[in-house]
Amino acid sequence: MNDAAAMQNARMVPAYVNRGLSLVGGEGVYLQDPMGMRYLDLMSSYGTANFGYRHPILTECFEQQLRRLVCLHGSFANDTRAEAAQELLARCAGGLARVSFTNSGSEANEAALKFAALATGKKKFVACRGGYHGKTLGALSATEGTRHRGSFEPLIWDFRFPAYNDAAALSEAVDNATAALILEPIQGESGIHPAAPGFLRRAAEICRASGALLILDEVQTGTGRTGHFLASHAEGITADIVTLGKGLAGGIPIGVTMVSARVAESIPRGAHTSTFGGNPLAAAGILAVLKLLDQPCLNHILEVGEYCTGALRCLDSRFVGEIRGRGLMIGFEVAHSRDLVLKALQKEHVLAIPAGENVVRLLPPYIIEKAHLDIFLEKLRRILASPLFTGAQPCAAS
Ligand SMILES: Cc1ncc(COP(=O)(O)O)c(C=O)c1O
Repeated sequence: MNDAAAMQNARMVPAYVNRGLSLVGGEGVYLQDPMGMRYLDLMSSYGTANFGYRHPILTECFEQQLRRLVCLHGSFANDTRAEAAQELLARCAGGLARVSFTNSGSEANEAALKFAALATGKKKFVACRGGYHGKTLGALSATEGTRHRGSFEPLIWDFRFPAYNDAAALSEAVDNATAALILEPIQGESGIHPAAPGFLRRAAEICRASGALLILDEVQTGTGRTGHFLASHAEGITADIVTLGKGLAGGIPIGVTMVSARVAESIPRGAHTSTFGGNPLAAAGILAVLKLLDQPCLNHILEVGEYCTGALRCLDSRFVGEIRGRGLMIGFEVAHSRDLVLKALQKEHVLAIPAGENVVRLLPPYIIEKAHLDIFLEKLRRILASPLFTGAQPCAAS
C-alpha cells in the first residue's frame, strides 16, 4: 500500500469502500496514479467529472473566478451567482421559476422536501422502492431499503414506498394528505432502472389530481447525463420541484433545487440557507458547464451512449444480462460476482462502479470517444472469457 492510502485509511473514518488505489492527477478521460499509470475513467467520480479532468475551459473559468471572488454569503447579490441562476432556469423552463443553491445532491433534496412541506402544510411524502435520494436524514427518509437507513431508523416524517413503475400502487399511495412525490427519472443506485414509458407522465397526473407536488430528483440523471439537459425533458414532463447536483458546477460541490413560482411564494426568509450555497466559484462552474453542454455535446452523449450499449448487447449473453440506461448512464447485469468484474477492470486500468446487486454502472465523462469505449469493451471481453469467469452461473435474464 502506498503512503497516501495508508495515511488515509489510518486517519479517516472507514465510511467508504476502499478501492485500494491512490489517484493523484487526471487529464481528459484518464486518471493517474502516483507512478504515472493511467486509468480510463468510466465513472466520472460518480457522475461528477462530466468534462473529464483539467478541461481547459473549466480550468480557465475557475482560475478567473479564484482571482475575483471565491465565497460570498447569499444575503449579498453577486453577478456570477445571478447569471448562473438565470441561465439554469432558462435551460429548464417548464414552469420552474426560482433557484436555491446548496452543496450536494442530498442537500438539494433536503431543500426540496422542506419547500414541499412549506408549500402544502403537509408532511406525508411518497417515494419509490429502489429510489436513492442521499444520506442526510431527510434525503435518507426518502430512500427506501435497509441497506442505507437500517441503523438510523426511525427517520423523519411519513414516507410511503410504492413500487417504481407501478402506476396503480402510486395512485393508491398518493392522496390528498400527500405533500409531494419524489422520483428519479432513472433509478441509478439500485441498478439503472429507467421509468417505463408513460410512468413519469402518469405520476405527474396522479400528483395533479390529489394536489401533491411532484419533485424530480435529477441529481444523477440531470446536467446532460442522458443526452437531454434533464432526463424528464425527453418525456415532456414538468415538475413543481427539480433537484440537481453532481457535475453541474464542473466538479465544485453543488446542489440545486429549482421550484415553481407557487412553491417559491411559500418559502419565508431564513427557511433554508447554507453558508456556502451559491458561492461564486460554484456559480462560475455552472456557467462554464452550461456553455459546454450545447446541443452537439448532448448529441455526442446520445451517440456514444448508444454505441456503448449496442456493443454491450453483442457480448456473450451467458455472462452479460440486461443492459439498461440512456445516454451515458448505463448499467449492465453480470452473471459473475459483479465486484470481481469491477476489480478485474481496475486491474486492467479501467474504472467503473457498482449499482444494485449485480450491475456494473458506467457514468463516463461526456468527452469520451468511441475509441475509448473500444478499449474498455476489448478488456471486458477478455475478462469475461478468462478462466476466472467462464465457470460462473449464466445470467438468469438472458
Ligand atoms: C439520484 C440521487 N439523488 C441524490 C444523491 C445524493 O447526492 P450527494 O451524494 O451529492 O449528496 C445521489 C447521489 O448519488 C443520487 O444519485
